[in-house]
Amino acid sequence: MDELSARPQRIRRRRFLDYSFGAALAALAGTVLYPVINYLIPPKTKEITHQAVVAGKAGELPSNSGKIFAFEGRPAIVLRTPDGEVRAFTAVCTHLACNVQYRPDLQHIWCACHDGHYDLHGQVLSGPPPRPLVEYKVTLKGEDIIVSRT
Ligand code: FES
Repeated sequence: MDELSARPQRIRRRRFLDYSFGAALAALAGTVLYPVINYLIPPKTKEITHQAVVAGKAGELPSNSGKIFAFEGRPAIVLRTPDGEVRAFTAVCTHLACNVQYRPDLQHIWCACHDGHYDLHGQVLSGPPPRPLVEYKVTLKGEDIIVSRT
């Protein structure tokens, strides 16, 4: 093959390499930029305006007792006071996010992690918790204890 006939083939090869390099560079940029852009622009989510869950059956919650259940993907506690009222709160302690529990012997809500105490309205009685527990709305519908945001 002489020099003149080999030239167009070299040009085609060079163009092919240029296109390949450009395509590889574009793919690399897309691979890097797509996750960054995806992270910076959060996906549209459906806003939940009202959510209610059945926390349990009224007959299963005797006076002076509490029960943990899931609300909006997080632990919550429903309790029946010694007076028979049913109340619900987040079960996530406002100190360092341990789960609280109902203490029938003390008749209040207690966090075992650092001995935090809350009253039956979720207010801090003693210990390190800086804020009260968030209270939820409780509705009794037949036997169902329905909990929703206030
Ligand atoms: S996490 Fe509850 S008292 Fe510290």
